[in-house]
Amino acid sequence: MAQIVPSLLSADILDLKNLLEEFRDFGIEWLHIDIMDGHFVPNLSFGPQFVESIREGDKFLLDVHLMVTPPENFLDLFIKAGADLITVHLESTPHIHRVISYIKISGCKAGIAINPGTPVFLLEDIIKDVDLVLLMSVNPGFGGQEFIENTFKRLKDLRELCKSLGVSPLIEVDGGINGENIEKLLDLGVDMLVIGSAITRSKDRRLRLSELDSIIKKKQEGILELQFHKKVGESYG
Ligand code: DX5
Ligand code: ZN
Repeated sequence: MAQIVPSLLSADILDLKNLLEEFRDFGIEWLHIDIMDGHFVPNLSFGPQFVESIREGDKFLLDVHLMVTPPENFLDLFIKAGADLITVHLESTPHIHRVISYIKISGCKAGIAINPGTPVFLLEDIIKDVDLVLLMSVNPGFGGQEFIENTFKRLKDLRELCKSLGVSPLIEVDGGINGENIEKLLDLGVDMLVIGSAITRSKDRRLRLSELDSIIKKKQEGILELQFHKKVGESYG
């Protein structure tokens, strides 16, 4: 079943302890931590120390999204800080295969991210080596941006690419996700939904999380029902 992966980018840092407690109580398993360097993207965010503090305080799976160039210079820092999954941008290095291999050898899971303007087919020769593909649905650098509609088509393309190559990495979509677009993303087979401001900037975070979660659950029930009918149909057909 698809999962909500909260992004901490737009969170109120002074309230972080409460926020993480709420996430844990809600059953959230992954946390998305955005790392920006002011070069690859025009913004700065967190560093390895931040990841380390969260690692020490809680038991979430830490999904570290590196928006830095060159990523090679930062891998050891985040591996040591306790990242479970490190995602690097295809656009951030000419040595993507080496970077992905390095992450995996270090014992972390490896993800590859692509910007909204990067063709999905460019993943063809690396996709079999990664655990996760992160499809950016906004231009990276800021929280609270508007979802880019073309992502739906790109998600479809990505699913088709995976099918044609016989691979099944987790598919994560990141940026601008909210109650309006989540359903369509689920229909198109997203696995991990990175959601920042729609949750952390909401007045009632718990309610917002429940609303988003119930959309996922309803979809899942619908899928199971469909599978059941198909099975019954097959046995009698
Ligand atoms: C953008 C980041 C996203 C962002 C998502 O560069 O990669 O993870 O925090 O936040 P929202 O949901 O606010 O777009
Ligand atoms: Zn991100």
